[in-house]
Amino acid sequence: MKLPELKIGNLVASVPIIQGGMAIRISTGALAGAVAAAGGIGVIGASGMTFDELAEEIRIAREKAMGGIIGINIMFAAREFWGIVRTAIKEKIDIVFTGAGFSRDIFKIGQDSNIPIVPIVSSARLAKTSDKCGATAIVVEGREAGGHLGTDRSIKDVLPEVRKVTTLPVIAAGGITTGQDIVEMFNLGANGVQIATRFVLSEECNAALPYKQLYQQAKEGDIVTISSPVGLPGHALKTDFVNKILKKEAPKPIGCDFCLKNCSLEYCIIQALINSLHGKINEGVVFSGENVWKIKDKRIRPAADIIKELIKEVEACPSEPEGAEGR
Ligand SMILES: Cc1cc2nc3c(=O)[nH]c(=O)nc-3n(C[C@H](O)[C@H](O)[C@H](O)COP(=O)(O)O)c2cc1C
Repeated sequence: MKLPELKIGNLVASVPIIQGGMAIRISTGALAGAVAAAGGIGVIGASGMTFDELAEEIRIAREKAMGGIIGINIMFAAREFWGIVRTAIKEKIDIVFTGAGFSRDIFKIGQDSNIPIVPIVSSARLAKTSDKCGATAIVVEGREAGGHLGTDRSIKDVLPEVRKVTTLPVIAAGGITTGQDIVEMFNLGANGVQIATRFVLSEECNAALPYKQLYQQAKEGDIVTISSPVGLPGHALKTDFVNKILKKEAPKPIGCDFCLKNCSLEYCIIQALINSLHGKINEGVVFSGENVWKIKDKRIRPAADIIKELIKEVEACPSEPEGAEGR
């Protein structure tokens, strides 16, 4: 199969692969720029960044992107949501992805500044609402995804339902690690895919080596569902800290700066993510998609090589015959 380009508003990505935003500095300007330069859409995980940090990461991404498309991902649950969006627009971001909820106002801001707003949803109902509110495209995420989850249903079940309720570009996310997975998503109606976990094993991913090593060593069954103080479940790899969360023994936050609009204060998710980012794996949470163990080539390589490998695998797959099931 030959991959088509991905059109979102006036933007055209020659490779229909979006690198999913990964918060607390896992996906920064270096990774986003590398993916954009390879023809995909590179996304900076903006949740947890200060405005100055975000502006700097956008500049770093731009320098590397060779004219490619750069976006940010911001959790609606973040207290600084609007400030981050305003900063990104000021820095002339190409596209904004919003996870963990959205407000109708964001679409108005997108229209006023001529920037595509792409919500991440996990149901046909929210996809329909997003379409009506003015989304430019929709990312639909299944339970296979990493980070916070909006559903316990597989992308293979939710994607066809979303396809039926909107004519907007639909991008499938969750559990995609091979070219075969990408082809399957296109056969289920996707116009593009969003991949995060696979890109953690890239040179440009900002996580410390022990973080990446945990991904390399992951086996089936090592991914567990934890409850996050954000009020959503999340997929993470087993670590000592994660075991404490599961046993409800994780330490309560110290010196909270109320970074989330609503937080259960059960433990500090931000500190746990910062610890793992810096390699203190057993004092932290390492978010990961359900299919991390399925990654075949576990070497840490340039993101551009990962994209090339995925494209090669897609091109080795036969195109689905016309009228085949799933169209
Ligand atoms: C380490 C990690 C951090 C993530 N952080 C965010 C985030 O900040 N915001 C968000 O909307 N999604 C986040 N996600 C979800 C991804 O952007 C993506 O949609 C999802 O993980 C796709 O599934 P995959 O990882 O199996 O490819 C994160 C995923 C991972 C693995």
